[in-house]
Amino acid sequence: MSEYALEMLGVTKTFSKVTALDQVDLRVKKGEIHALIGENGAGKSTLMKVLSGVYKPDAGTVKIDGKEVVIKSPRDAIDKGVAIIYQELSLVPELDAVKNVMLGQEKNFCRIIKTQEENEFAGKYLDYVSRGSLASYKTPVKKLSVAQQQMVDIAKALSYQTRIIIMDEPTDSLTNSEIEVLFEIVRKLKADGITVIYISHRLEELFALCDRVTVLRDGKYIADENIRDIDKDWLISKMIGRDLKDTFPPRHRIRSTEVVLEAEGLTGERFENISFQLRKGEILGLSGLVGAGRTEVLRAIFGADKLQKGKVTIFGKEADISHPSRALKYGLGFATEDRKTQGLFLNHDIKDNIAAAALDKISKAGFVSGAKEKKMTEKYFQELRVVAPDTGKLCRFLSGGNQQKVVLAKWLASECKILFLDEPTRGIDVGAKYEIYLLMDRLVQEGVSIIMISSEMPEVMGVADRILVMHEGVLTGELSQEEFSEEGIMKLASGEKL
Ligand SMILES: Nc1ncnc2c1ncn2[C@@H]1O[C@H](COP(=O)(O)OP(=O)(O)OP(=O)(O)O)[C@@H](O)[C@H]1O
Ligand SMILES: [Mg+2]
Repeated sequence: MSEYALEMLGVTKTFSKVTALDQVDLRVKKGEIHALIGENGAGKSTLMKVLSGVYKPDAGTVKIDGKEVVIKSPRDAIDKGVAIIYQELSLVPELDAVKNVMLGQEKNFCRIIKTQEENEFAGKYLDYVSRGSLASYKTPVKKLSVAQQQMVDIAKALSYQTRIIIMDEPTDSLTNSEIEVLFEIVRKLKADGITVIYISHRLEELFALCDRVTVLRDGKYIADENIRDIDKDWLISKMIGRDLKDTFPPRHRIRSTEVVLEAEGLTGERFENISFQLRKGEILGLSGLVGAGRTEVLRAIFGADKLQKGKVTIFGKEADISHPSRALKYGLGFATEDRKTQGLFLNHDIKDNIAAAALDKISKAGFVSGAKEKKMTEKYFQELRVVAPDTGKLCRFLSGGNQQKVVLAKWLASECKILFLDEPTRGIDVGAKYEIYLLMDRLVQEGVSIIMISSEMPEVMGVADRILVMHEGVLTGELSQEEFSEEGIMKLASGEKL
């Protein structure tokens, strides 16, 4: 018997001009939680898609339990005991938890199955994962939270007698307490002998959860180590190929007192009586737990949702923002958190996407100047170091983090004066995060004002000049830079007074 649950040796995969994987090795021991890390575009998701039968490798071998296998299709991967939990969960939204688990089980029940049998079969796996935290297995899964949907997806994977579970950035849209619950599930899987491959850009998670780590860079295998033998600096230097001394760049601020945006008594469906001022050249952090209403407030100011009450003043004039297209005219920009559905045209190339909010700057009498468009898009493409052969690449083929960079590039190119950034570094690797903080710092030096929503507390504290905290739709406090502390933010975020 082999000590390895999985060995991938010399795996190579190219997409036309791009070598996504160049003779990559990955060795995962039985029953361990194995982290797979690397910068955006390093090849993590591609390697996992080879393993789960989505892509056929150009070269290389895969061994499961020491036996060489050829994985022909996703179905074949499942039959060989490999399941993948994607960021975009693979559930049917209209069906309930039981039905979702039963999908794909036809083969094992080659006859009509009774409802009771279904309930028993699926219930077993749902119980295992959810431990009573799902009120009903009979609600359409679209009514469940992301964390609960994820549980159903894991239950479904387990129902295939899975031995290896891959999780690709599973904590991206979870709250801190939901992350703890997911960690418990992952540890339980491990205790039951299931091997887990875990992808995340949040390095703290690896230290809290994983046993070993493999690092990829530019499609190549760089190193693997026991987590207990390494530290964060080691990981970062292996990932980006150099040392990164500081996590946040020093602040350069113009310290203007000019108010560029004032919100007075804003009330909407999920928030009430929100008032604050944004000054020229400052970064205002907007903190709170997921669901506190932060995104909703910014959406309403931007004209994407209706305001029931309240007044917004921009550059001294009362603003009538009834539609996002008007917001652009007021000089507002909004990089949303959900890049897949709101931020990008996935079937368009990088160039089109970067230029989308800046067309008036590069066109004359309605005609886009190709030369200007090229120059402008190239500039941001380079600055943000988007990993792609050129700006003609369709966004759907970019890695998750690189899609996020294109969303940011689009708003930088629009040259807006007031920029809303909602979770701007979600899914972005440590090196690129630093680049984004640097860009933000440069923008505010040029007089741009930024409101940033971030669920990562060190990030808000490391970047913002002031932090507003929300709890269940109301503002519970404001902290100046001298007052920043995780405890302070947490208290306000949970509705306590300081
Ligand atoms: N279907 C495809 N067609 C063309 N290029 C692709 C395709 N899938 C991936 N790539 C390219 O392969 C490289 C590796 O991408 P991959 O998605 O594996 O990165 P990743 O490590 O998962 O990054 P991230 O952390 O941003 O998710 C990238 O340069 C990407 O653009
Ligand atoms: Mg990926």
